Amino acid sequence: MLLFPLILFIMNLGYGDTAETSFVFENQTIGMKKEDGETCMSVTFQVEILNQQNNNSVPIDFHLPSGLIKGKCAADRKSEAVISSTIEEADGRLKTLKFVFRTEEMRVKRVDELRWQLNKVVYVEKFAGSSAVFESDNSSVIFSAPLTQKYVCEDRINVTLHSENFDFPILVMFSPEIDVQPYGPKSNFYLCERTRKRTLSESLQHRSTVFCGVVLAISSIAHIVGHMLRRHFMPHRKELYENLDRLPAI
Ligand SMILES: *[C@@H]1O[C@H](CO)[C@@H](O)[C@H](O)[C@H]1NC(C)=O
Ligand SMILES: *[C@@H]1O[C@H](CO)[C@@H](O)[C@H](O)[C@H]1NC(C)=O
Ligand SMILES: *[C@@H]1O[C@H](CO)[C@@H](O)[C@H](O)[C@H]1NC(C)=O
Ligand SMILES: *[C@@H]1O[C@H](CO)[C@@H](O)[C@H](O)[C@H]1NC(C)=O
Repeated sequence: MLLFPLILFIMNLGYGDTAETSFVFENQTIGMKKEDGETCMSVTFQVEILNQQNNNSVPIDFHLPSGLIKGKCAADRKSEAVISSTIEEADGRLKTLKFVFRTEEMRVKRVDELRWQLNKVVYVEKFAGSSAVFESDNSSVIFSAPLTQKYVCEDRINVTLHSENFDFPILVMFSPEIDVQPYGPKSNFYLCERTRKRTLSESLQHRSTVFCGVVLAISSIAHIVGHMLRRHFMPHRKELYENLDRLPAI
C-alpha cells in the first residue's frame, strides 16, 4: 500500500524540467506541488468513460488517483495549466486522461474579469503500437470560475469527446465531489450553475411550504377571531351558542 505512492513519487522526481511534483490526497484528489511544497493545482472529481461505439451504455470507471500523475502548473496568470493521469492495464494498454486549463478575460456584468476555465479534455489510448485520441471541442468551456475562486459542483456533468479517426464519440462523465482549483489554492468557491439552480429551487420549495404553513396558521387564527367577534357582536346568536353550550351531553 505504501510502496505504490512511494514509487510514483520517485518516478516523478526523475522526469520533467520543472521541480513540480504530483501528489494524491486521500485517494480522491490529484494535484501538483511546487518545489517549496506549496500546492499549485488541486483537482477532485470522479470520472467515468463511456465509449459510445455500438450504442454501448456501460461506462468504465477511470480512477484518476490510481494512475501516474503528470502535470504542469501555470507559470503565470495567463498561461496554461495541465494535469493528466495514465493508467496501465494488465495487457499493457495505456489509458490517459488529460485536462487542460487556461485563463481568459471575460466581461461579467460590465466588468472585465480574469477567469480560469477547463477548456480541453483529452483521452488517449495506446495499445500495441497504435493509439486513439479523443478530444473535446476547442470552443468548450467545461468548468469556469473567477481566477481567485475554486469551482465546486454537487451535480454530474457530461463532456463529449470526438476523434478524427473514429466515427463514434466517447463521453467523459464527471460526478461529485467536484472541486477544482487549477490556479493555486483558493479561499472561496464558485458554485456551479446547476447546483446553484437546484439548491435555489429546493430552498424556494422549502420556503413555499413554510409560507403555506404560515398562511394556514394566519387563516385559522382569523377564523377563530372572526368566530369570537361574531359571537360578541351578535348577542342573539351568542345566546343561542351559549344555550347550545349548556345543552347536556347525552
Ligand atoms: C482508492 O480507491 C479506488 C477506487 O475507489 C480503490 O479501488 C483503491 O483500492 C483505493 N486505494 C487505496 C490505496 O485505498
Ligand atoms: C444504435 O441506436 C440507433 C438508434 O437508437 C440505431 O439506429 C442503430 O442501429 C444502433 N446501432 C447499433 C450498432 O446497434
Ligand atoms: C482545435 O485546436 C487545435 C490546436 O489549436 C487545432 O489543431 C485543431 O484543428 C482545432 N480543431 C478544430 C475542430 O477547430
Ligand atoms: C450523462 O450521460 C449519461 C449516459 O448517456 C446519462 O445517463 C446521464 O443522464 C447524463 N448526465 C447528464 C448530467 O447529462
